[in-house]
Amino acid sequence: MANNVNGFWCHGDQFCGCFSKVGLGQVKRLVFTTTCIFFFFFLFAAALVHLMYVPIIQRNPLPQMISSPQSSTTKHLTRIENLLNCSYLGLRQNCPNNNSSVFKPDELSTKTCPDYFRWIHNDLQQWKNSGITKNMIETGKSSAELRLVIVNGEVFLEKFGKPYQTRDLFTLWGILQLLKFYPGMLPDLDLLFFTGDKTMIKKIDYQEPNSASPPPLFHYCGEEDALDIVFPDWTFWGWPEVNVMPWEQMLSAIKNGNKRIKWENRVPYAYWKGNPYVSLERKDLRKCNLSDKYDWNVRLYKQNWSKENEEGFKHSKLEDQCTHRYKIYVEGVTWSVSEKYILACDSMTLMIKPRYYDFFSRNMVPMQHYWPIRNTNKCRDLKFAVEWGNNHPDKAQAIGKAGSRLIEEFLTMRNIYDYMFHLLSEYAKLLKFKPTIPSKAQRVCWETIASSKKLKGPWKEYMEQSMVKSPSDKIPCALPPPYEPQVVQAFLDTKEKITRQVEVWQTEY
Ligand SMILES: *[C@@H]1O[C@H](CO)[C@@H](O)[C@H](O)[C@H]1NC(C)=O
Ligand SMILES: *[C@@H]1O[C@H](CO)[C@@H](O)[C@H](O)[C@H]1NC(C)=O
Ligand SMILES: *[C@@H]1O[C@H](CO)[C@@H](O)[C@H](O)[C@H]1NC(C)=O
Ligand SMILES: *[C@@H]1O[C@H](CO)[C@@H](O)[C@H](O)[C@H]1NC(C)=O
Ligand SMILES: *[C@@H]1O[C@H](CO)[C@@H](O)[C@H](O)[C@H]1NC(C)=O
Repeated sequence: MANNVNGFWCHGDQFCGCFSKVGLGQVKRLVFTTTCIFFFFFLFAAALVHLMYVPIIQRNPLPQMISSPQSSTTKHLTRIENLLNCSYLGLRQNCPNNNSSVFKPDELSTKTCPDYFRWIHNDLQQWKNSGITKNMIETGKSSAELRLVIVNGEVFLEKFGKPYQTRDLFTLWGILQLLKFYPGMLPDLDLLFFTGDKTMIKKIDYQEPNSASPPPLFHYCGEEDALDIVFPDWTFWGWPEVNVMPWEQMLSAIKNGNKRIKWENRVPYAYWKGNPYVSLERKDLRKCNLSDKYDWNVRLYKQNWSKENEEGFKHSKLEDQCTHRYKIYVEGVTWSVSEKYILACDSMTLMIKPRYYDFFSRNMVPMQHYWPIRNTNKCRDLKFAVEWGNNHPDKAQAIGKAGSRLIEEFLTMRNIYDYMFHLLSEYAKLLKFKPTIPSKAQRVCWETIASSKKLKGPWKEYMEQSMVKSPSDKIPCALPPPYEPQVVQAFLDTKEKITRQVEVWQTEY
């Protein structure tokens, strides 16, 4: 191990942290042991939590990465760093200077971003007139888990809460990759982030004329009644706790899986597999499962993650779940990251009316990309949809295909980075103050993650896979202007009309 320099962290153009290059076996072992203890502690804790099916907020398993100044581990590492003294050894400091990489795109011509980028304007609309003040950030801290500050291309992080699993780490990883994809392009900014499921900034709390201004809070999902600003979720860079690979790898595996069974040869029922205990919607869906009494054309399977974990995730692979002609999407606690994997299957998605949206789902159209199911009449609606599809196989197949194509076109990693870029840039324009480094914040960069970790297993593997290897060869796509309010209304009306029509068929049935 002592001579095992490099590992995955030191690829060609990337910098390496001190630890990865230095042959000081003793120090390495010390760091390695510390990391391992934390790692196994985490695995044990994760297993316990999964066993109970309770989304308990866990301690971040990687405390050295974004550690608080008080943490003894940090002190420990700082001591070792001084001992090693990177500059003395002729190696770079943990975090390189911001000038380390310059953005020189080959292509200056621009394409317009997809239409769903227009919602960026809507999500920031609330602060368009007032701007975003430092005070809003201060008051918003109580709803947030993270405060992320970018100054001169350098990232600083302050943590308030204990995010679930490693959502925060993988989101942060995504932002670091964005900085690598578009070096020097991101403006200075100061933002709050929440990584949990539930929406936090409710409109109703800010409706009185004299109520405080709502704080801007970045989050993975939004809803009609909330002001949370929607940001791509962590799974685009991977979800190692449940063996879900980064999106590019996952999508390509699902696409290969799709080839195994042609649509007409798939099981002619509606399929869903997941954790049924997290929400009332899912509990309600269980009533539609095949039983001695009824057959609603629905086949539901429980996902026991702790069992899967023990058995090496052999039976939870998403690429093996494109076996049925119809796939059900049902929300969990709020939105579910399963949406994109379900839509990618080439099966017709039966979407139980969602309450929440993520950053791309608002542009999906019923009967074009999915079949709408009422949440008040699930079983009958599902039964009808399956019968309709089996009687109109070409149409059902076309809806399935269109849903998958949409996911593929909307969710290229370039689009994800462009979306993040524009959202953060537009957000930064609203700031009424010049972002400065908060006193309690820690500098983070991919080198700090790399040098303090000997990450094992999927945590390491997924970061390696989702790492941006070199800056973009193109400038970001051009952000289209906001939708006119009447256009949004017309779009919503159209969706409503189509859904109503389907409901009429379903009711007649
Ligand atoms: C590291 O070593 C260099 C060269 O010996 C020295 O000038 C510098 O002060 C040292 N830095 C620390 C943090 O010890
Ligand atoms: C980048 O930073 C390093 C270290 O501070 C400095 O020596 C170098 O001249 C800088 N390069 C440019 C292009 O500014
Ligand atoms: C790099 O940092 C320096 C000092 O913090 C700042 O003056 C400079 O503008 C930064 N460069 C870029 C490209 O952000
Ligand atoms: C649905 O029914 C099948 C067969 O009875 C059972 O194995 C499965 O666990 C049920 N699914 C759920 C989510 O309850
Ligand atoms: C899930 O699997 C674990 C381990 O195999 C088992 O102990 C536990 O009872 C299962 N939980 C449920 C709810 O079935």
